[in-house]
Amino acid sequence: MSQLETPLFDALLKHRNRHPIQFHIPGHKKGQGMDPAYREFVGDNVLSIDLINIAPLDDLHAPKGVIMQAQNLAAQAFGADHTFFSVQGTSGAIMTMILTVVGPGDKIIVPRNVHKSIMSAIVFAGAIPIFIHPEVDSELGISHGISPESVERALLKYPDAKAVLVINPTYFGFVADLKRIVDIVHARNIPVIVDEAHGVHIKFHDDLPLSAMQAGADMAATSTHKLGGSMTGSSVLNVREGLVSAKRVQSVFSMLTTTSTSYPMLASIDTARRQLAVHGQTLLDDAIHLAKDARKRINSIPHLHCVGREKLGTSATYDMDPLKLLISVKDLGITGHVAEEWLRVNANIEIELSDLYNILCLVTIGDSKKEVNLLINALRRMSKTFESDASITETNVQIPEIPALAMSPRDAFYAQTESIPLALSEGYICAEFIMVYPPGIPIFIPGEIITQSNIDFIKMNVEAGLPVQGPEDSTLQNIRVIKERKAIY
Ligand SMILES: Cc1ncc(COP(=O)(O)O)c(C=O)c1O
Repeated sequence: MSQLETPLFDALLKHRNRHPIQFHIPGHKKGQGMDPAYREFVGDNVLSIDLINIAPLDDLHAPKGVIMQAQNLAAQAFGADHTFFSVQGTSGAIMTMILTVVGPGDKIIVPRNVHKSIMSAIVFAGAIPIFIHPEVDSELGISHGISPESVERALLKYPDAKAVLVINPTYFGFVADLKRIVDIVHARNIPVIVDEAHGVHIKFHDDLPLSAMQAGADMAATSTHKLGGSMTGSSVLNVREGLVSAKRVQSVFSMLTTTSTSYPMLASIDTARRQLAVHGQTLLDDAIHLAKDARKRINSIPHLHCVGREKLGTSATYDMDPLKLLISVKDLGITGHVAEEWLRVNANIEIELSDLYNILCLVTIGDSKKEVNLLINALRRMSKTFESDASITETNVQIPEIPALAMSPRDAFYAQTESIPLALSEGYICAEFIMVYPPGIPIFIPGEIITQSNIDFIKMNVEAGLPVQGPEDSTLQNIRVIKERKAIY
């Protein structure tokens, strides 16, 4: 089959055009049983392909027909041996990767700044995370990826580790020398699995960093929906056979996946793959050009700095994705959160994320000069508005320290727990996840010993209005800890 074809989407259209009388779910029956307001808004086209795994449409859980063909074309496009479609986001693909390579008591080497799906999977698996500190950029207040040297050190210290997970690229678009990391890890005969949530497009343009499959990684969870043009929540898992078995991946994927797989989502992966494979180079060329121009213009705005290739050169910042416009607003005397809110209220612009010092804006294959111009104009106005507060101050960057792990995250998650005031919790073992989201860097995970400096870090983020998420008590007055067993006299 050729990359011009979309077997799954075509099968859905063919089926719809036959107008079969449906005596199966979904009960809305092409929208006719649906509330008219939603039906009218969404439109009959989408509803007519909101179908279920009847024989002509194949079954994601045991693909033998059009889904298998669509997955094979995707594997070819991504340079993988097998590709699995996910209707549960990259989170579903990540959980599948982890549950495929580790089980109870197994060690897995992971960067600390992992997405929450990675920690959830580690709890499900009963595995032991060995954290590597990501390289920290104290000027920007962000963390990058992990360096090949730190992977080497971790493997020396934990030679019994069963796998290494790498985030490539990071949320902010930086990549380490993934090929070197893969060589180091493969020398130990264990797999490299990659969180490629922010890198679906990099395989499809020659000037972008190497993709996970190009670098020789064993598995990659790759968000087609984030930057690849498919529907929200759809994603793929790319697999190289050898250190992992595709059959095992299929069964784990199936265990974690709904039996009611959304065909509009699946079809959008099929068509996004075609678009990337056939037109990716041209579309990305335009987007890269737009982003490079935007970066230059933002850097001419007083008090703003849009990060670029000058940041490269450390072992964790080997290359970068130019489509990520990471804009430091600290010299304007405001937080990224204030900038986000200002852009929302004053320019009707929604950005990807903000933190204490930065905002992140994404330029994708869906943008044109018009949107980029609106952003630049808004940033100019924002700079003028806050100009009087502007001062170049030394950044006192606070990155949460990694607390010591006293018990496995799973044991802590299922242990007897109690809720105590956060302010008094130093020294206790945490029983829940607390993270700043986005971008989802854990401050505490279950099993870690609570430190005063991390209690202070939580307070600082809450006071700055940044979203600290995870604890049962969303006001963050209390924290759930492992119940202390008092001595009996
Ligand atoms: C680094 C990273 N990994 C994984 C994910 C999960 O992706 P999804 O939202 O598709 O489940 C995200 C989502 O933001 C992410 O930023």
